[in-house]
Amino acid sequence: MSIALGRVRLRPLDALRPEDWVRVHQHFQDPEIAHLNGTPPNRLPRWLLRRVLKSDARRPDRMPFGVYDEHDDYIGTVELYDVASDEATLGIIIGERSHWGRGYGPEAMRALLRHAFGALGLNHVRLHTYGDNERALAAFQKVGFAERERKRNREGRVDVHMDLWRDAFLEAERRLEAAAESET
Ligand SMILES: CC(C)(COP(=O)(O)OP(=O)(O)OC[C@H]1O[C@@H](n2cnc3c(N)ncnc32)[C@H](O)[C@@H]1OP(=O)(O)O)[C@@H](O)C(=O)NCCC(=O)NCCS
Repeated sequence: MSIALGRVRLRPLDALRPEDWVRVHQHFQDPEIAHLNGTPPNRLPRWLLRRVLKSDARRPDRMPFGVYDEHDDYIGTVELYDVASDEATLGIIIGERSHWGRGYGPEAMRALLRHAFGALGLNHVRLHTYGDNERALAAFQKVGFAERERKRNREGRVDVHMDLWRDAFLEAERRLEAAAESET
């Protein structure tokens, strides 16, 4: 199953090509991306990272997708995890720097969220990011996420927790679609 919206297409991890796994590995090793994401850079060899991620993808509470651009190039991952009842947590890494700040992140999230609030029947999606990740905060707000809590953690970084409820997402979608129509 793949999900398309605008320039972006989401594919399950099983559909990733060998050259896509090279990029996944680079993105997971990248110290800047790791910092933005709040994880240490991944040190696993490519074959093992691939095995771990593919095995994780089979968990019933996890739904990761590769993100592809309009040239069918792999640019990152977007996922739902901790899927339980009608709730889940969203994570996203657009790993290709050439694609930062060009709206691919929000497009990928909107594609996933349409699926989440539609076919999957979710009512609430949450996420965690950092107060210093301004690009992420702006991108999350664009798709309708609102801040629930902001708190300095023990490492001195500001944790930001955000929520998106189904109704707020549908409202944000209506606004984005109306803005796109008025541009054409
Ligand atoms: C965070 C991320 C998903 C955002 O996706 P994106 O496609 O880059 O987001 P957008 O292009 O919509 O940019 C969002 C907004 O950030 C702002 N922005 C862009 N570059 C910025 C910068 N360097 N600093 C601060 N704000 C910036 C802009 O206002 C932009 O909105 P605009 O298009 O209305 O001008 C993506 O950049 C990414 O994956 N980055 C690396 C990993 C990461 O941070 N993941 C999130 C961890 S929680």
